Amino acid sequence: MNLPPVIAIDGPTASGKGTVASLVAEKLGFHYLDSGALYRLVALASQKQVVDVNNGSELGVLAQKLQISFKNGVILLNSEDVTEAIRTEAIGLRASAIAVHPEVRRALVSVQHGFRRPPGLVADGRDMASVIFPDAVLKVFLTATAVARAERRYKQLIAKGISAKLADLLQDLQERDARDSSRGAAPLLVAEGAQVLETSELSIDQVVETVIDWYQSKIS
Ligand code: DC
Repeated sequence: MNLPPVIAIDGPTASGKGTVASLVAEKLGFHYLDSGALYRLVALASQKQVVDVNNGSELGVLAQKLQISFKNGVILLNSEDVTEAIRTEAIGLRASAIAVHPEVRRALVSVQHGFRRPPGLVADGRDMASVIFPDAVLKVFLTATAVARAERRYKQLIAKGISAKLADLLQDLQERDARDSSRGAAPLLVAEGAQVLETSELSIDQVVETVIDWYQSKIS
């Protein structure tokens, strides 16, 4: 049986992969998986239930039992709307900390595979191409300099009316990059066969067009 095609988009924090992946999915009429949201959900749930970020086995059990739903851009955790609550910097950092545990990563594999439905899927994260969908038709590694990424995040937060300091954002982002890249379990890396796209000087539209062109040339 032929499985629906997957476009895997990996990259460091604030590389624009979420925006790009959801626009590519929209243009192709594909489903979209924001895998980072799953780690953020485990982070939020573990905070609410006061589970230590170093307790891999308990976090793994918690991840297995998560009651989550993604519908029309709204994310529910145990029926509570947490769409905004999982987007804070603090939850992002906690997500990076709990994501080092193999027990947590294992618990989320089948949830991620469940998003692969016809006519296709665009999945973004850190290990989409290397671990979760190694048979992806197209593997893209999006990147940008740390300064360009910190500036993007700063603009996003300010636009939402959330106060932020560029220097703090840059430091958080470098901390997360270091941890996401150096962990033993499924580290952030350029997967074999992935095409690297450096986006510091590109607009979102240019990145989306490039990814779609690359996909078309893979399937033609
Ligand atoms: O993409 P994001 O910033 O929402 O992800 C939050 C954290 O979750 C990130 O710092 C590391 C972790 N993560 C991961 O380990 N694997 C993924 N596929 C996606 C996210």
